[in-house]
Amino acid sequence: MKVTVFGTGYVGLVQGTILASVGHEVICADIDEKKIADLKNGSIPIYEPGLEPLVKENFESGRLKFTTDLKLAVEHGEFQFIAVGTPPDEDGSADLKYVLSVAETIAVNMQTPKIIVNKSTVPVGTADKVAASVQKKLTERNTNLLFHVVSNPEFLKEGAAVNDCLRPDRIIIGTNNSDVEEKMRELYAPFNRNHDKVIVMDIRSAELTKYAANCMLATKISFMNEMANLAEKLGADIEAVRHGIGSDPRIGYQFIYPGCGYGGSCFPKDVKALIKTANDLDYKPELLEAVELVNEYQKTKLFEYFNAHFAGNITGKTVALWGLSFKPNTDDMREASSRVLIEALWEHGVKVQAYDPESMNECQRIYGQREDLALVGTKESALKNADVLMVCTEWSQFRAPDFELIKESLTDKVIFDGRNMYDPKLMNKKGLKYYAIGRGASVKSV
Ligand code: UDX
Repeated sequence: MKVTVFGTGYVGLVQGTILASVGHEVICADIDEKKIADLKNGSIPIYEPGLEPLVKENFESGRLKFTTDLKLAVEHGEFQFIAVGTPPDEDGSADLKYVLSVAETIAVNMQTPKIIVNKSTVPVGTADKVAASVQKKLTERNTNLLFHVVSNPEFLKEGAAVNDCLRPDRIIIGTNNSDVEEKMRELYAPFNRNHDKVIVMDIRSAELTKYAANCMLATKISFMNEMANLAEKLGADIEAVRHGIGSDPRIGYQFIYPGCGYGGSCFPKDVKALIKTANDLDYKPELLEAVELVNEYQKTKLFEYFNAHFAGNITGKTVALWGLSFKPNTDDMREASSRVLIEALWEHGVKVQAYDPESMNECQRIYGQREDLALVGTKESALKNADVLMVCTEWSQFRAPDFELIKESLTDKVIFDGRNMYDPKLMNKKGLKYYAIGRGASVKSV
């Protein structure tokens, strides 16, 4: 089948490549000429495990093409995927200008019927707006070409996007048209094996499903972080509590890891956007507001421990920081907890020596050259002449470090762990002071 994907970011590039990999003919279009030129040369603008060889293979086979020629792109696909960004406005609502601009491009150029598939995370009601905008242009063009707008939200996780796309848990199709449903089922048939993963519903429910899923996951995290904060006050260990509650299958072990807050391009933005949607409807979303507040507070925890440990005398200190990305296996630092921490440290005259397996360039891009930031090549070199160690991201290479070296290198033998990676008892044995999130005894004194 012929597919056009507008937008070559995480979602569009991964989705387009995966559709090509099962035999569909895919054109990925973008207005960014450099990005398209790089992609044609085999250079992938993002770090996503497994993506590069897959792009290369499908590009070379001719099933996957890249273009900035929007007219050609519209002509190509019976399916027109919209996978462009929806950055938050100042008031938290999702900015639809890119989505609507693609809708207009399609309407201006289409010569045959189209199924317009909305992949971008967009507020409920956006499919109606897209349909209205396309219809308006077609009327202006004096044509009554047929088109349908489908909501087909993505659920891919950064760092696991290729696998999530190849083996989806569910394929949500929001449409009220049975022919369109049939076509969408055919398109996704290669991914719909073992049991039926396609869930068909009305368009608005599909749009809300995406927000509800992300907000539920964010709620689980903020709930656990609140329990962690209580555990600290009570002298309990949140890791034991997590184990204890996760064993209840109604709760489950997934997504109940406490830490220094959730980040990334989805949770913070989507929680904010749903709060805004609710407010616009004169509904006060008490729970969602609390989820966001807890998360904002959580991102300040490591700094708080650090400041309390030194009784506020922190100016002039040097921190070794392990982990900059918002989670492991990505170079993405959007809304990362590390940024809140680094900026708070700088504000108090603290120097940061940071190491991350993938985000060094990204960090450089965001903060540029500064005297109080050293981006170093290994986790060991981050420790040199540092006073303490802080961990913001649970990269697997941080799981079993050389604790003797850490102890030898740091002037104050302290680890502030935002991802609860180490065993407090072991740290004690090794002669290291250890602060972690919600681990009773380790932080009760703070
Ligand atoms: C998320 C959703 O998982 C995905 O389905 C959706 O399509 C996009 O948003 P992603 O942003 O890639 O994916 O990251 P995810 O792996 O979900 O992690 C988000 C944040 O939550 C990270 O900062 C992570 O550290 C944090 N997290 C996750 C916790 O703090 N505790 C947990 O138990 C799980």
